[in-house]
Amino acid sequence: MAQDQWSAVDRYITDLLVSPDRALERALIESGAAGLPAISVSPNQGKLLWLLARAQRARTILEIGTLGGYSTIWLARALPADGRLITLESNPHHAEVARTNIARAGLERVVSIRVGKALETLPTLAVEGVGPFDLTFIDADKPSNPEYFEWALRLSHRGSVIVVDNVVRNGAVMDPASTDPNVLGVRRMNDRIAAEPRVSATAIQTVGSKGYDGFAIMIVNDDP
Ligand code: SAH
Ligand code: DHB
Ligand code: MG
Repeated sequence: MAQDQWSAVDRYITDLLVSPDRALERALIESGAAGLPAISVSPNQGKLLWLLARAQRARTILEIGTLGGYSTIWLARALPADGRLITLESNPHHAEVARTNIARAGLERVVSIRVGKALETLPTLAVEGVGPFDLTFIDADKPSNPEYFEWALRLSHRGSVIVVDNVVRNGAVMDPASTDPNVLGVRRMNDRIAAEPRVSATAIQTVGSKGYDGFAIMIVNDDP
């Protein structure tokens, strides 16, 4: 019952407030056809990412976890014409599907995909002097979330926003006895965030077409 209702309300909200976008719809269709898992942010969540990036007046965005580029397209659409988005993806097949979807959205000059494990490509970004980023969206493998948070912070400036997907995991995040590596990753990251004076953070539980989960959202208070 609950899930049916959450999905129905998500459809209601999306039909009402999220304008249909051919490229975004096609990105989901092509991702499904290519065998990618249906774990992209939902349309109304994608619009939340877009809204946060707009409110932040973001010109530079970092995304960790591209999949088929659905959230990438939402975020890139929030950028000005000279804005830049770098997205990190370890699976070459996912990256290839994303490349096509991003090009179809007309965003190939705004978005660059770095293929490789994020814990290997993030140091490269730092060495290259890329960044700082106005907004970072963390949405890859959850066990590495503590490290992704460290990198996001390092690649931020005073005023940067960091958003993390999937921080509630059906409520499992509050279980201190959990042995699920995904839950452990989120809990370790949350402990790090809580102990980090350079960020002000909260987390919001969500229900919807993707079930019961949540986002962490934080702002960086000082130049790291
Ligand atoms: N942000 C996407 C969904 C990302 S799903 C959206 O909402 O549309 C998570 C992605 O992270 C998958 O494509 C997976 O291949 C990728 N991933 C998993 N481990 C990774 C790693 N170590 N480095 C980079 N990407 C990784
Ligand atoms: C999964 C990953 C995600 O990023 C998400 O939003 C939902 C599910 C997963 O790995 O199951
Ligand atoms: Mg996610």
